Amino acid sequence: MPTGDALSDAEFVVVANRLPVDLEKLPDGTQRWKRSPGGLVTALEPMLRSREGAWVGWPGLPDADVEPLVEDGLQLHPVRLSAQDVEEYYEGFSNATLWPLYHDVVERPAFHRHWWQSYVRVNQRFAEVVAEVAAKGATVWIQDYQLQLLPAALRELRPDLRIGFFLHIPFPPTELFMQLPWRTRIVEGLLGADLVGFHTPGGARNFRWLATRLAGASPGQGRTEVLVDGRPVKLGAYPISIDSSNLDRLSRTPEVLERAKQIRADLGDPERVVLGVDRLDYTKGIDVRLRAFEELLVEGRIDSEDTVMIQLATPSRERVEHYQKMRNDIEQSVGRINGEYARVGHPAVHYLHQALPREELAAFFVAADVMLVTPLRDGMNLVAKEYVACRHDNGGVLVLSEFAGAAIELKDAILVNPHDTDGVKNALFAALTLAPDEGKRRMRAMRRQVMGHDVDRWARSFLDALGLPPPDGADS
Ligand code: ADP
Ligand code: F6P
Repeated sequence: MPTGDALSDAEFVVVANRLPVDLEKLPDGTQRWKRSPGGLVTALEPMLRSREGAWVGWPGLPDADVEPLVEDGLQLHPVRLSAQDVEEYYEGFSNATLWPLYHDVVERPAFHRHWWQSYVRVNQRFAEVVAEVAAKGATVWIQDYQLQLLPAALRELRPDLRIGFFLHIPFPPTELFMQLPWRTRIVEGLLGADLVGFHTPGGARNFRWLATRLAGASPGQGRTEVLVDGRPVKLGAYPISIDSSNLDRLSRTPEVLERAKQIRADLGDPERVVLGVDRLDYTKGIDVRLRAFEELLVEGRIDSEDTVMIQLATPSRERVEHYQKMRNDIEQSVGRINGEYARVGHPAVHYLHQALPREELAAFFVAADVMLVTPLRDGMNLVAKEYVACRHDNGGVLVLSEFAGAAIELKDAILVNPHDTDGVKNALFAALTLAPDEGKRRMRAMRRQVMGHDVDRWARSFLDALGLPPPDGADS
């Protein structure tokens, strides 16, 4: 693996809080790389590999001194975070201030000045690393809420760069954003980009309003541009997606089909399998769906002998208090439901607090009759699209929260308000009893959307708007 000075002068640079791979410390003291959690990496990795770009991000462990390296054709440039940075910038300001604030204040955001100072410092450090790595006139694509000050900080150091920013989580209603003591600095930070992208037109509209009110931006050409000191900044909606055809292909392989059968057999060949797949996050509404499932059992509308639920949950942000509490609550609910409705060797709810390989995940999607995606608020939710991409048989029913960005595109899902327990319960029952023809009609329609709008198309439309030509050899 080439390391060190051999790596720089990149023409195309992606910057995200995390690298696409995470350094993990094993019990024997050795370290190994594993895939990073979350939708951002799922979406960006295939796109970046096809462009042979560079990726700047944190390697996932505090105080890790890692040299730049090339992994499978991709330049990786680690940014070092100390244990204090992890606590204040990542767990604190990013995930206990911004995350809840941007997700409709589902939990109360904490505002601490020392967390903010750390966020400023770490964003500045990212700017310095990117300024070193990027070639003259390069294009830099900054990702997500952890790095909202980076566009302006980078422009200060390297005015020659073309800078894009994409927010992977919802941009909040203006009334909520206005709670943030450092609101003007965040808006000014984002306005350092040439293009700021959101999942939905609503997000872009909210930001535009704030840019004019807080940062003195003036109207530019049309409603998709503002002027900052005469410099145009484009704003737009770019709904993210997945590598649809690859997942479709994977879900058709004999290994995945066989594994799906095996999963059903291991469950005791129930008539119906209900599935949830999420990062273990309080925004995902895992508690909502467990409640709905439990109430259907209590009311005798379903029977645990023939209907089982599986919840796969990737561990996430385990040192943040809200996450610890939510994990306890969920595990208690699973225990309570199984205490009442399981028998030996036959749980009603199967709960795995584990990250699974892609092939295994695809097999679960193929095996599930009903997919429950019930976030209280979600920027997009790639899991919903992944389920659809895996259902080449047009089977399966998707129950989807209307507060996930994906609901704008997947209108043929059974849409639910996750705050309405009766509504979710009835939707789950409707999904379990849906006529097969109607199920197939809905799935076909959703597949047309997901297969026709993949992550490559998303990246292409963002980068076109930013003015970056397609990579060599790509169809235009
Ligand atoms: P977020 O970005 O908030 O985590 P998304 O639904 O957009 O939410 O993306 C989550 C990604 O993580 C998806 O690609 C999904 O397949 C993956 N994922 C979720 N749960 C698991 C799991 N238990 N094992 C492996 N991958 C998972
Ligand atoms: O967009 C959601 C997101 O926060 C990404 O930025 C991130 O990569 C993913 O979820 C997983 O979260 P974390 O990096 O905090 O584990």
